[in-house]
Amino acid sequence: MANHSDTRSSLTRREFLAVAAAAVSSTALGQALQPAIANDRHRPRFHLMPPSAWMNDPNGPLYWRGRYHMFYQYSPVISTMGPKYWGHAISTDLVHWKNLGIALAPSPGGPDKNGCWSGSAVIYKGIPTLVYTGTTWSSESESAERRKGLVPERQMVAVAADPNDKNLTKWTKIPQNPVLAAPPAGIKAIGWRDPALWREGDTWYMAIGSGEIGKGGMALLYSSKDLRAWAYLHPLATAKPDPNIDASRPWDSMWECPDFFFLQGKPVLLVARGNGYLTGTYSDHRFQQQPPGGQIDYGSAAYAQKTIQDEKGRRIWWAWIHEKRTTEAQAAAGWAGVMSLPKVLTLLPDGTLGIEPLPELKVLRITDRKLSNQKIEPNGPFLLRGFDNDCAEIETEIELGDAHQAGLRVRSTANGSEQTLIGYDRDSQQLFCDTTSSSTDPQTEKLSPPVSGRGIEKGILELRRDEPLRLRIYIDASVIETFANGRVSLTDRVYPANTASLGIGLFAKGGTARLRTMTLWNLTPISNDRLTSGAELFHV
Ligand code: FRU
Repeated sequence: MANHSDTRSSLTRREFLAVAAAAVSSTALGQALQPAIANDRHRPRFHLMPPSAWMNDPNGPLYWRGRYHMFYQYSPVISTMGPKYWGHAISTDLVHWKNLGIALAPSPGGPDKNGCWSGSAVIYKGIPTLVYTGTTWSSESESAERRKGLVPERQMVAVAADPNDKNLTKWTKIPQNPVLAAPPAGIKAIGWRDPALWREGDTWYMAIGSGEIGKGGMALLYSSKDLRAWAYLHPLATAKPDPNIDASRPWDSMWECPDFFFLQGKPVLLVARGNGYLTGTYSDHRFQQQPPGGQIDYGSAAYAQKTIQDEKGRRIWWAWIHEKRTTEAQAAAGWAGVMSLPKVLTLLPDGTLGIEPLPELKVLRITDRKLSNQKIEPNGPFLLRGFDNDCAEIETEIELGDAHQAGLRVRSTANGSEQTLIGYDRDSQQLFCDTTSSSTDPQTEKLSPPVSGRGIEKGILELRRDEPLRLRIYIDASVIETFANGRVSLTDRVYPANTASLGIGLFAKGGTARLRTMTLWNLTPISNDRLTSGAELFHV
């Protein structure tokens, strides 16, 4: 399953995914690949990933006795359609992670025999508890089931086998499973998954992602006192009519991975589609959408956002960063999928959401280089001397001046035969990441929808008059996460073919901009083997 669903495609998502799965279905990974993976220059060094194979959505997360537990959709095969397990990692600072192996595995013959899909983690009566979607989807049975209107997805519960085990490595599925067996009568659900939980007084509420063909996405609301007996209430929220929804593309009508929380007392609903967030009102347990709403991340590589309120009361956000190269290239690499950096969401005075990197990430900074007060001219120097880096954080403030576009060039060769541009377009008021020339590798060029290849990712950023462009950019091998003016983020992937594509420069087009300040920090990896150890814990 699972990819961003906003591409224009003649294939349905599911058709595409079946093709992609077929392409690599024999790619079960052995330990032999681990050293190659640890030395893969495209593999990030300060992002969370399983030691090998496939990762998609963040699941959980959970804070328990001094440790953060992050779970994620894991598959031993490189395929969106592979059987899904819950991979598990822990951290004390949300920056350094250690993989602990598999927390949940499909039970042969059970209601989750074909996958333990996405869900949440909560503490109930002192017991860490996982609530997730079990599935029996299979490519053979799917079309017959769909014809009968069946959705073989159901909601399941697992509890920590030993809450005193500080790593929470063992989980027990409860005998009452599934705790919910089918979508409510009267709703022609095309999917019914990814439970998100919260508590009001002594009552638990759960939103389940769903949707009806042609109508659009919805989050269905349930309540329970004990996480076992659930009552369906009504839709928590439904998509507004959208002229862009094509009824012939069912996956466009589905809200995957809802997430619901309050920021400074205001309700916020996240849906995976387009990394969107909805703002509005919440009364009688109904969420009514009202402007502004928006998009948290403008990159199509980010999907399936998930949050937690941390011990300091902050709302922390993660997403799955998928690959932007062919499934064959992913299979050859032996790994696919990366967890985004943790990002802090805030409510801004105009009612939109702010997004910044987690401040604790500063612990990764080692050495720095600084620049200040420089003209950026269209025919200025192509690269900055001594700034080459692909494991770095850059913070910069740029005045647009009379330029139409200005920003940074990263992962560049000396002559720009490979280069990635991150910048601002004044005329369209858009932040952009241009990967058109990021790689000469044909495996990054024409990808089957919905995975997009090289191109320009962009989104609105309205700068006030005289407001400079403020960028924070994290470059971690093939992952680039950009934050602009504390208001938006843009996640992208690049796979330069040339090992020398490490250069960093400034660019301006159509006029002269000015660099106020720029600092580049060399960052330290969070492990010494690109997080490849512990592979044996993931064998299935
Ligand atoms: C989103 C998603 C979820 C599902 C999971 C399966 O990417 O499709 O809706 O639970 O992936 O891995």
